[in-house]
Amino acid sequence: MPERSALIARSAWSPRKLGCYIAFTRETRHRGYRDDMRAVYTSAGLVHEARHLARILLAQMPERWQHTIGVAGQAEQVIPTVPAADADLLVAVAWLHDIGYAKMLRTSGFHPLDGARYLTAHGCPLRLAALVAHHCEAFLIAEVRGLAEELATYPREQSAVTDALTYADQTISPGGQPMTFQHRLTDMLHRHGPDSPNAAVHPRREPLLRAAVNRVERRLAAARPSAAARHVSP
Ligand SMILES: [Fe+2]
Repeated sequence: MPERSALIARSAWSPRKLGCYIAFTRETRHRGYRDDMRAVYTSAGLVHEARHLARILLAQMPERWQHTIGVAGQAEQVIPTVPAADADLLVAVAWLHDIGYAKMLRTSGFHPLDGARYLTAHGCPLRLAALVAHHCEAFLIAEVRGLAEELATYPREQSAVTDALTYADQTISPGGQPMTFQHRLTDMLHRHGPDSPNAAVHPRREPLLRAAVNRVERRLAAARPSAAARHVSP
């Protein structure tokens, strides 16, 4: 089987395309293009390319890929909770949030940082890479792992997009199935163990994650009252 780096090189995909799609989106907005046309272009471009990259990078990690598919699907469900201008970015980041687990991307061994480094090294916009770097309050775990300084090179956004990404990641199991927030936390602590960095920061991290999930549910209920009842509750 060819090396994944060779597959990426041969494919039509280029990480720089993600930057191009975002730049295109901004430009068309400034020109006042119709919203519906913009949505078609951005979704078909940015999201498609993000999914394609994630599929290649996670090809050797079937469970991680299934989790990623689930998170992206959940992100699509909570699009009404983010500004329309950020909808494509949210779903694209959901596809990319765990690419740092791919063996070929490992530098620090901390997947949010490794994923972000890969994206910036290949010309992706800082905002997209920073969302990957800081997903699910990664800065707290980075502190324990001695990587806080490295992670801090990426700005930590706190917005409806970061809330929605947290919600999507924290309500999908490692195998890609819907899961309550509380069950997800319990499972995470069990998998990582009591001596893990995740367990060490849990008292500080859990309230931040829970608050984000709660905000998303409130926004979802306000945006789509009839749809909110179908979503997983913590
Ligand atoms: Fe994840």
